[in-house]
Amino acid sequence: MSEPESSVDTTEESVSSPTPGTAAAAQSGLDTGARAAEPIIKSRGIDVFYGDQQALRDITMDIPEKRVTALIGPSGCGKSTFLRCINRMNDLIPAARVEGELLFSEKNVYDDDVDPVALRRKIGMVFQQPNPFPKSIYDNVAYGLKIQGYEGDLDARVEEALRGAALWDEVKDQLDSSGLDLSGGQQQRLCIARAIAPDPEVILMDEPASALDPVATSQIEDLISDISEEFTVVIVTHNMQQAARISDKTAVFLTGGELVEFNDTEKIFENPSNQRVEDYITGKFG
Ligand SMILES: Nc1ncnc2c1ncn2[C@@H]1O[C@H](COP(=O)(O)OP(=O)(O)OP(=O)(O)O)[C@@H](O)[C@H]1O
Ligand SMILES: [Mg+2]
Repeated sequence: MSEPESSVDTTEESVSSPTPGTAAAAQSGLDTGARAAEPIIKSRGIDVFYGDQQALRDITMDIPEKRVTALIGPSGCGKSTFLRCINRMNDLIPAARVEGELLFSEKNVYDDDVDPVALRRKIGMVFQQPNPFPKSIYDNVAYGLKIQGYEGDLDARVEEALRGAALWDEVKDQLDSSGLDLSGGQQQRLCIARAIAPDPEVILMDEPASALDPVATSQIEDLISDISEEFTVVIVTHNMQQAARISDKTAVFLTGGELVEFNDTEKIFENPSNQRVEDYITGKFG
């Protein structure tokens, strides 16, 4: 990949070039090539305002399909706001106003004919605090499928989602017990199972491991790498090592709501183009 001239590295060329492979492959120096990805989400000049206050400025980036894209940056720089733009969760915040285009499979999700509820079935979300419903483990996972009127084999889909979330073996004999009785890490994997059960295309995760201990965090990280074979993952994290370990692409937002640099994760962490990004990554501020 050619080196960008500009310090703001969000050019079409840099973001749509084939990625070198999985994060792990990139870190090991292997170029798998075969995992080149097309963008599934294209942000075009997204601005977000809360009342008079602007939280995001002119965000343009392409998020590749079936990859992990990490959003990093200091508190208040707009990471969660951007994540919520992707599946129109900002619609639920009365003061929020979004301008610009957010293309999902080439369709602007802000077009009048887009149903946000249907959109969120294709673009699911996992939050920082595990938030299982006060229902059985089974019903937590089956919930979205039932709402959709799923007519196939519900038991099989629940099992598949729990296996996909690396939780099946731990809960298969207690599917009727409450999701709230699980440990924090198990609850978060249950939430991931709930998110993947309706077979979305994209899963948005806002600091999904920050409330968990190191063992549970590592399980979630492994899980994210696994599910990115099938789903596109966009994850907000404050943990630089986590971003470096699990993501293929990294977007660095800085104070003021700017996207300052977006590139292959390896490039961002080893040789960022922007001095502010380097200072942030090396812990000089943030
Ligand atoms: N519901 C809201 N109403 C008004 N302002 C908001 C709202 N949510 C976020 N903001 C403001 O928008 C800016 C970006 O917030 P956001 O939560 O997106 O940042 P963040 O990067 O996710 O931060 P953190 O790392 O602390 O989670 C901040 O100035 C914040 O105060
Ligand atoms: Mg946030």
